[in-house]
Amino acid sequence: MKRPVGVGLLGCGTVGAGVASILQANGGRIAGRAGGPVELRKVAVRDVNKPREAAIPPGLLTGDPWAVVEDPEVDVVVELIGGVEPARELISEALRRGKPVVTANKEVLARHGAELLALAARHGAHLMFEGSVAGGIPIIKPLQECLAANRVQSIMGIINGTTNYVLTGMSRRGVDFETALREAQALGYAEADPSSDVEGYDAAFKIAILASLAFETAVRVEDVYCEGISRITPADIEYGRELGYTVKLLAIAREEEGRLDVRVHPTFIPDSHPLAAVSDVFNAIFVQGDAVGELMFYGRGAGGLPTGSAVVADIMEAARRLRRGGTGLAPGPRRDLPVKPVEETVSRFYVSLRVVDRPGVLAAIAGAFGRHGVSINSVIQKGRFEDPIDLVFVTHEVQEAHLRRALAEIDQLDVVRNIGNVIRVEGPDA
Ligand SMILES: NC(=O)c1ccc[n+]([C@@H]2O[C@H](COP(=O)([O-])OP(=O)(O)OC[C@H]3O[C@@H](n4cnc5c(N)ncnc54)[C@H](OP(=O)(O)O)[C@@H]3O)[C@@H](O)[C@H]2O)c1
Repeated sequence: MKRPVGVGLLGCGTVGAGVASILQANGGRIAGRAGGPVELRKVAVRDVNKPREAAIPPGLLTGDPWAVVEDPEVDVVVELIGGVEPARELISEALRRGKPVVTANKEVLARHGAELLALAARHGAHLMFEGSVAGGIPIIKPLQECLAANRVQSIMGIINGTTNYVLTGMSRRGVDFETALREAQALGYAEADPSSDVEGYDAAFKIAILASLAFETAVRVEDVYCEGISRITPADIEYGRELGYTVKLLAIAREEEGRLDVRVHPTFIPDSHPLAAVSDVFNAIFVQGDAVGELMFYGRGAGGLPTGSAVVADIMEAARRLRRGGTGLAPGPRRDLPVKPVEETVSRFYVSLRVVDRPGVLAAIAGAFGRHGVSINSVIQKGRFEDPIDLVFVTHEVQEAHLRRALAEIDQLDVVRNIGNVIRVEGPDA
């Protein structure tokens, strides 16, 4: 292709405006690295009269997203609308036309990624999605290309900036969850309806994408066990600190004997772990490969310009492929690995209990743990001379089903007022 490569944007909100600004500000550099000019040709939005963060040249805006996909001057379609429909239909139509598609849409990829990659392969098109996970951090291409010689053993990530900001606030200032969330909302780091972030669904979409790439399978987001952060209390954070742990919302994926363990939940990690130092809205992904060993990718996981940086890099790759002729084939899933039910996964656990302060309480609880094969690594007692007091246990590794059975029995003990919290613990078993 000799002429400039034409780009069509579907959506010009936070990320779309970031992409348009980068294309304008760095046009010369982008042309040099993409083998020729890359030009914005059409931009579809819902409301063409709304003020935009980026200066979109007059005449490019349209209210009709199909006009972007169908425009013969648009060579690369960039989907930044979000959600499943109409994004899925628009991406599909662009791929059917053989056009490379760049998207940052984790939800459509987590729900329909395998189907879209297969469609891309059938039509000799290419589907790129570096911006879909962890915004500006390069992680998709490293998994697809740079680490391709490895058997990836595990991925552990802080891939939701909102929850990391909230947990950092709770840890630093001792405030409760609701206060830290309100602070995040006031600063624009949390949505008015924060449930997708706070309940872990956003991270579940992203880990489904990463696990699918790393383990070459199609992970269904419905199979990702997901637990949010709203039950974490300042007391849990304080007790964790005494035990040498920091709490993070972790997304975890591991391959174990032909099955995948994929989950999102609050997790205590040792203060010495590199992920413990990842604060505020920053994201990080910790990857272990059999050849490369341990790697960590760190940076801004959201925002118009950071995410735009990843999206524009994908656009440039699409432009280079178009200039070389042919769009290349998108890799699809090679294997079909089942996901382990969470009850069968093995972890260490932090368990906090409110109990009456009476002789024999510890023995009664330890007995119930023991009857279900749960062995205790450490115990701390809080609030002597108060009633009830807090007892905090950290277990050795145990299958989750056994822990749940032990807790069901402990909950029935008359000395136990209630089970406070149960939080998984990562890191070596002492
Ligand atoms: N925000 C981030 O930091 C970030 C980071 C990584 C990935 N992402 C992903 O990037 C995508 C875009 O996110 P965003 O934050 O940029 O969203 P956003 O600010 O809500 O922007 C969405 C854009 O899509 C347009 N739009 C919505 N429905 C449309 C339709 N039916 N036809 C045409 N245009 C339509 C909107 O038009 P109007 O402007 O007229 O309303 C708006 O310009 C999402 O998939 C998101 O998950 C976002």
